[in-house]
Amino acid sequence: MKFFIDTANLAQIQEAHDLGILDGVTTNPSLMAKEGIVGDAAVLQHYKTICEMVDGDVSAEVISTDFAGMVAEGEKLAALHKNIVVKVPMIKEGIKAIAHFTKAGIRTNCTLVFSAGQAILAAKAGATYLSPFIGRLDDINWDGMQLIEDISDIYTIQGFQTQILAASVRTPLHIVQAAKAGADVVTCPLSAITGLLKHPLTDNGLAQFLADHAKANQG
Ligand code: G3P
Repeated sequence: MKFFIDTANLAQIQEAHDLGILDGVTTNPSLMAKEGIVGDAAVLQHYKTICEMVDGDVSAEVISTDFAGMVAEGEKLAALHKNIVVKVPMIKEGIKAIAHFTKAGIRTNCTLVFSAGQAILAAKAGATYLSPFIGRLDDINWDGMQLIEDISDIYTIQGFQTQILAASVRTPLHIVQAAKAGADVVTCPLSAITGLLKHPLTDNGLAQFLADHAKANQG
């Protein structure tokens, strides 16, 4: 399973990269705005900076909601760097754009996916990645992880090549559950990734080992 970080924050991207386990980055317009990245030129430059920091796929989202606009934006984004994946919303025009990009050899990430039906359509259009939003389903008392399992079953039965990118993943437990449910990729905040490190018995055990070593080697 690949690990992507879901942020536009360069310091957090660097920290995840330094762990040696980072496979890519996802962003969205909310995450870009949160970092104060505004205006076309600044947005494009920010994506370039991220691509230079991480040797892996970087999802860059279009803002347009019409086919022509998405195609124009997506082509501009894809031309920035070989690792850019054009992120397109799961709407009618988005599916048309994904089918177009697939034919043109431009890789895509279909975002804002909340049902197995949407997942089938995106795979038919040839999406490289599919982003079902786990946490947002949990927020409305639906089972986000069940959706990952369902899509994983469908893609296996049908032989679809689209990779399931579990998104809106917020906790270490979400990462473990997504791995069990068949996600190809998880994208999550740095806190969820570093949260995987934590176990009190690891901390206690290490403290004991170091104390015993120090005692045995005194004087
Ligand atoms: O990957 C999509 C993600 O950014 C949405 O996460 O926590 O805002 O639902 P969240």
